[in-house]
Amino acid sequence: MKAAVTTTAGKPEVIQVQERPTPTVKDAWILIKIKAFGLNRSEIFTRQGDSPNVKFPRIQGIECVGEIEEDPSGTFKKGQKVAALMGGMGRDFDGGYAEYATVPLAIAFPFESNLPWTTLGAIPEMFQTVSGSLTQALDVQKAETLLIRGGTSSIGMLACQLAKHYGLTVISTTRNNDKEKHLKDNGADYVLIDDGDISSKLKQLFPDGVDKVLELIGISTLKDSLKCIKPKGIVCMTGILGGEWTMKEFTPMGDIPSLGRLTVYMGDAVNLSKTLLQDFIDAVADGSINVTVDKVFKLDDIVAAHTYMESNQAKGKIVVEV
Ligand SMILES: NC(=O)c1ccc[n+]([C@@H]2O[C@H](COP(=O)([O-])OP(=O)(O)OC[C@H]3O[C@@H](n4cnc5c(N)ncnc54)[C@H](OP(=O)(O)O)[C@@H]3O)[C@@H](O)[C@H]2O)c1
Repeated sequence: MKAAVTTTAGKPEVIQVQERPTPTVKDAWILIKIKAFGLNRSEIFTRQGDSPNVKFPRIQGIECVGEIEEDPSGTFKKGQKVAALMGGMGRDFDGGYAEYATVPLAIAFPFESNLPWTTLGAIPEMFQTVSGSLTQALDVQKAETLLIRGGTSSIGMLACQLAKHYGLTVISTTRNNDKEKHLKDNGADYVLIDDGDISSKLKQLFPDGVDKVLELIGISTLKDSLKCIKPKGIVCMTGILGGEWTMKEFTPMGDIPSLGRLTVYMGDAVNLSKTLLQDFIDAVADGSINVTVDKVFKLDDIVAAHTYMESNQAKGKIVVEV
């Protein structure tokens, strides 16, 4: 089979398209014929050698969609459409950057859909992250206010659409004035330009603060995001677009407002269910949710795809068609 193999830690060019033996399937695992996969920013860290325990060479890719090629357990028929994600995929074992992958049954979710593979490929990890952050971590409720910090990211764009679907008022941020219309077109009620101080601008719109904050930039903006919540409001840090992992100084009684709540979301396949995924795919198919795919690459162009992801030009999900 053809596979994009990360040969060693480094720049996008360390990923080489090679011929590899098609993997053989073990007990309680399945073999998937891959049709498409979404790119994820965590795959940049893995490629750079920053994912603990990842040994090179490795076929990366924490998610994929495709069809069952072989299932020794008999759970799925050959040809069944399936998504697989996380659970060590593309890190502890070879992942989705290939024509075939073997994955444990536990991280496979069957679905039915006539959507194009390039749309389906954008969904599993993005949806799992957004739905887990909003419903499981932030416990969003109809009529609440939600600030999405890092609104133009693919996670931020989908979070806005799902939050609007649930009946919330959404404030989205970007550092880039040119992306304001893009965020409004995606459903944001308000757009704030992020120069590091969002809390004072937000208080002009909502003097008491917002109910919930989805923090996608991370450490560099977290203290300011905590200033944005109402008493008993929640900030969930799901992303680290700012690239910083550790906060040097943090004073809980000071940085967290009284009664404020701070949590994180680090989703995995266990946070998703077959029903949740199918319902979401159906909502995309009937047009009630729009999945924003920014660009589709071929597997042969994986280096260009990683380079593009690192350039921050994308305004939606980057997908690779296999
Ligand atoms: N916790 C989980 O389970 C989980 C799962 C998946 C992803 N994530 C995380 O969620 C975040 C979003 O992922 P994504 O794939 O949706 O991202 P993405 O689409 O690649 O995001 C791109 C946008 O991020 C903004 N950005 C980039 N670098 C930035 C910086 N240094 N400071 C501020 N903004 C910056 C830019 O927006 P502007 O130029 O418009 O400001 C850019 O357009 C990532 O941190 C990712 O690792 C978490």
